[in-house]
Amino acid sequence: MSLRTALEERGMDGVLSVARQAGPAAEAALKADLESVDWAMLDRQRRALEKGEPKGAGKIQPPEVKPASTSGAPENAAAEEAGWAALRKGRVAIATVAGGQASRLGFQGPKGAYPLGSVGGSSLFQMMAGQIARLRALTGAALPWIIQTGPGNHEETVEYFARRSFYGLGSRTVHFACQGTLPALTPEGQFLLASPGALFRNPDGHGGFYRALREAHLPEKLRAQGIDTVFYCQVDNPLVRMGDPIFLGHHLLEKARMSVKVVAKEDPHEKVGLIVRREDGRLGCIEYSDLPDELSEAREADGTLTYRAGNIALHAFDLRFLEEMAEAALPLHQARKDILALKGSSPEPVKQAGVKFETFVFDALPLADGAMVQLAERAEEFAPVKNASGNDSVATSREALNARTRRWAKEAGLALPEHGAVEIQSGLCYDKGDLIAQAPGLRLAAGGHLITG
Ligand code: UD1
Repeated sequence: MSLRTALEERGMDGVLSVARQAGPAAEAALKADLESVDWAMLDRQRRALEKGEPKGAGKIQPPEVKPASTSGAPENAAAEEAGWAALRKGRVAIATVAGGQASRLGFQGPKGAYPLGSVGGSSLFQMMAGQIARLRALTGAALPWIIQTGPGNHEETVEYFARRSFYGLGSRTVHFACQGTLPALTPEGQFLLASPGALFRNPDGHGGFYRALREAHLPEKLRAQGIDTVFYCQVDNPLVRMGDPIFLGHHLLEKARMSVKVVAKEDPHEKVGLIVRREDGRLGCIEYSDLPDELSEAREADGTLTYRAGNIALHAFDLRFLEEMAEAALPLHQARKDILALKGSSPEPVKQAGVKFETFVFDALPLADGAMVQLAERAEEFAPVKNASGNDSVATSREALNARTRRWAKEAGLALPEHGAVEIQSGLCYDKGDLIAQAPGLRLAAGGHLITG
């Protein structure tokens, strides 16, 4: 179908007139941009706009959860064995989504580059790279790392890693996959122009992860290496147990296609999605912004929240399922915003009502035949950096890291000064057990409370 027909059929051909007035270069640029539009997706966007956001969660139940990896629960023993075995066999890759802008944090640059370490100044990326390096050393596996970037930070992220020699992980084992964009629309379903020669587009949300992998040809590359399972996390949680063997083990033993970790919510209005068992028996995630108060505030007789499985956005995937999701019609979430775009014949962009569309990774949960939920102990596994101050800020995340290091060091019998921040040198140890095992060879570096080898 020609571009003209595609536009005319949808009553969207007016978009070319501004470009035409601006001259042949702008017209050619806009046409090229329009040629890359996914028309089937655009039609879904326009239908979604007419219908509005889907409302109502239906009848829900709390999901059944496996005990936390750090709980020492006997139910975890078989999973632990299965997870380590899969890691040692080289069946696992790690993926981190890092495509969003760190705007809430007020940081210029990719969020993963934020220097979170209180003593050594390690960035979030560095902390994660260190965990992967240690896990590689413990398992002898290649353990590739996929970093999903966004159009706003892709080049900067790749350069960041290149300048740091990929933290010694080897450039061929760190893969970057850039998520796509979706055109924003007016409330009437028309395109918006960022300039006469370009549509206004926004990143397609972390649900774009699935397509980004496909576009980067990663599923086939990973499969050729014998990988069938992918551990997934967000870039903003420095407490993450990268490639957690117990989590992976439960996922594999349950023959799940997608799994998720949750923390027990205590604050009904905490900004985490809610993992639930839906009426149709499938798992789902209700995003915090869509959660009605009567659900978030419902309590059991003992006072605990009835629906408390807070999504920490940590998943395990079957590789085939990841590929299938690149084709799936995931729900389109809409954000009505003021958008800076051209209007009428005005030469400069002006603020106007528009709608941005995004898809979310966790919307694949209901599509997974077999999905496992595991609890995570908050103090051990979840302290995201989201905001400049207050909840989920740099300060609360550093505090949680420091407290965890002190707990581990105490159990490992390492003597620490009573006050001040303590940090474990990145890449030195994978978890508490690893620190305890290595404790006799460790010391505090001069000039800061950094535990080093
Ligand atoms: C997210 C989850 C929420 C979960 C919480 C846990 C959504 C919509 N909600 O909330 O259910 O409980 O994390 O911390 O995600 N990202 C991209 N591309 C994008 C947008 C985001 O890669 O287009 C990445 C970010 O870099 C970040 C992660 O996704 O690593 C989370 O994004 P963010 O917008 O911070 O999500 P939250 O609202 O905090």
